[in-house]
Amino acid sequence: MVKIAVLISGSGSNLQSLIDNVRNGYINGEIKLVVSSSPSAYGLQRANDAGIKGLCIKDQNELLKTLKDENIDLIVLAGYLAIVSSEIIHEYHNRIINIHPSLIPSFCGKGFYGLHVHKAAMKRGVKVSGATVHFVSEEVDGGPIILQESIDVSDCDTPEMMQKKVLTIEHKILPKAVKLYCDNKLEVIDERVKIK
Ligand code: GRF
Repeated sequence: MVKIAVLISGSGSNLQSLIDNVRNGYINGEIKLVVSSSPSAYGLQRANDAGIKGLCIKDQNELLKTLKDENIDLIVLAGYLAIVSSEIIHEYHNRIINIHPSLIPSFCGKGFYGLHVHKAAMKRGVKVSGATVHFVSEEVDGGPIILQESIDVSDCDTPEMMQKKVLTIEHKILPKAVKLYCDNKLEVIDERVKIK
């Protein structure tokens, strides 16, 4: 059984979608640990409610030690706002998954998080946006793409409405990507993900 750590910083609605999909048997893995970069993240409450160990860790060396101590196989960044250290990225090469609320390579990289992403997309007048799940590399939002799904954007949408629509998709494709990982269906060849 794949042992998963979910890293969060905020509300944790993506964490909740993972918890639900482990519970209903869709994901063949176990969420052993939830780590928050902030002590007040609501996601910690969600972990607690689900009976999952939840910790607030800010130091990346301490984080790596904890991940190793817990024998974590897969790390999922679900709204994690801290920068993951190069050491962790190397140690967990192609074993860290991130969810980003745009169609990468649009509206991603440094500074593109939360509502900033949707504001920039609206400002540019995009007709579609969406969400991307990818493996994490040293380049921010630059690792191999696992899954993407789009939404239509209408003239009367606000960034907040777009965020809500995109979140609905996130809650579908993040559990799907984690399921594929746990079922050993993901292979990275030449920096591209092949779904077996
Ligand atoms: C999501 O939009 C995710 O794509 C981004 O941060 C947000 C986290 O939302 N990385 P939540 O905490 O899962 O509700």
